[in-house]
Amino acid sequence: MSGPVTVVAVDGPAGSGKSSVSRAAARRLGFDYQDTGAAYRALAWFVLERGIDPADEEAVVNVLADFDYAIGIDPDDYFVRVGGVDVEAAIREPRISVVVSAIARILPVRAYLVDLFRHVIASSDKPGVITEGRDITTVVCPDAPVRILLTASPEVRMARRSAEITGQSADEVAKHLTSRDAQDSRVVDFMNAAEGVIAIDSTHLDFDQTIQAVVDLVHAAAR
Ligand code: CDP
Repeated sequence: MSGPVTVVAVDGPAGSGKSSVSRAAARRLGFDYQDTGAAYRALAWFVLERGIDPADEEAVVNVLADFDYAIGIDPDDYFVRVGGVDVEAAIREPRISVVVSAIARILPVRAYLVDLFRHVIASSDKPGVITEGRDITTVVCPDAPVRILLTASPEVRMARRSAEITGQSADEVAKHLTSRDAQDSRVVDFMNAAEGVIAIDSTHLDFDQTIQAVVDLVHAAAR
């Protein structure tokens, strides 16, 4: 572990492009990249694997003791493992997306994962870590020198997500995304920028322009 790393906190709703943009911006900056949604998804996968009902809060909290989670934060070496099993593809399946919000609303689960995210950041040996999720600017790293809310119009978000997912119609993707956003926003507000958080609306920006907007903010903060 070297000196304190610069944390770039990025929040936003599903389909805003925060994962792909954060990863590419980290690459450009020589930073690490932490996908926090992967931890909630991996826990949801583990809960289903154990045959636990995601609505059974006590059982979900109890399973945390056995949750052996590992994530790759090098943007060129991304992996997600639970108990040594590669779950990177499995955690993107629709069966996970429909239960993940139920798990993410359990407060002891959030407290446990917030702590884990801070440890992952502290383990970085790069000059900075872009960490993205729903509550990074407000709860995980409210003191980060760069805090960004990445948004896009609902139409653009649905279209982006439906291009990523195969095996589901555009209507189904839109319906699931809207319902997940509604459930998630009862727990954390990731639709409005908190004080001091800069909003980047990517509705009319292409991928490269969005990455550049993030990189520019990091450079400006360093000056
Ligand atoms: O990529 P997408 O925005 O669709 O989702 P994700 O970032 O993979 O996050 C999956 C789920 O984890 C979200 O729907 C939230 O329920 C939860 N989550 C959270 O509660 N807090 C975070 N910091 C990140 C994700």
